[in-house]
Amino acid sequence: MPQLGLGVWRTPADETARVVATALSAGYRAVDTAAVYGNEAGVGEGIRASGLPRGEVFVTTKLWNESQGYDRALRAFDKSLERLGLDHVDLYLIHWPCPQQDIFVESWKALVRLREEGRAGSIGVSNFRVGDLERIIGETGVTPAVNQIELHPRFSQAGLREAHARLGVLTESWSPLGQGQLLDEPVLTRLAERHGKTPAQIILRWHVQLGLLVIPKSVNPQRIAQNLDVFDFELDEAEMAAVASLDVEDGRIGPDPAEFG
Ligand code: A2P
Repeated sequence: MPQLGLGVWRTPADETARVVATALSAGYRAVDTAAVYGNEAGVGEGIRASGLPRGEVFVTTKLWNESQGYDRALRAFDKSLERLGLDHVDLYLIHWPCPQQDIFVESWKALVRLREEGRAGSIGVSNFRVGDLERIIGETGVTPAVNQIELHPRFSQAGLREAHARLGVLTESWSPLGQGQLLDEPVLTRLAERHGKTPAQIILRWHVQLGLLVIPKSVNPQRIAQNLDVFDFELDEAEMAAVASLDVEDGRIGPDPAEFG
């Protein structure tokens, strides 16, 4: 799986094919969508428009909350494939644990079947807490490949990252740029000037050096290209710590998985 891919949350459906084709021609080889984003069809269209062989593009999509449960998950997966116009995805995730529904173990069993059938190359989860992860592993014996969570310098999730390392789960950062809200931070502008990069590139480099999978969203061709151009410089230890110093306890921007869904 490429470490850095294109995220398309909030990319309008009618722009998605163009955005995905732009990213693929800029060198991206991974796209992250979800049933609830309403733009899976555009993702498939953009991949086909790129002319790249299917095997060169890593496609992730996600099971929406109202489709949780064994049978519903299988049906929802079929619909996602149909919208994408693909016969398999490379990674399929449960989007939220939805503890109030409390059926994510059943959903997980459906994903295990999809992987066994080869229609999902890998399977994982998103927004799962440590207890949620331990529960699906304990009840099925199958460890998710990935947990995709809100993660950016203001909310750096040290505890969950540690648990992932212990359990053998890769960490993937959603809203890696803090939805663009962090880009004026003086720490970042200073480092950006020093390296001849932008604040967004400093943040993305921080994710890369932490070993995280990362999926910045942009609809703008220049910013799409800029966000991939983070593999030709390095932050030293003090600079990594300076970025990490932006972390605050209530730095979450998105919903709390304990309550959402
Ligand atoms: P746009 O799509 O107009 O480029 P995140 O991935 O953390 O959710 O952040 C996405 C937000 O950050 C979007 O509003 C996006 O706007 C903006 N963004 C993405 N890349 C950059 C960049 N390189 N510089 C500035 N803003 C960016």
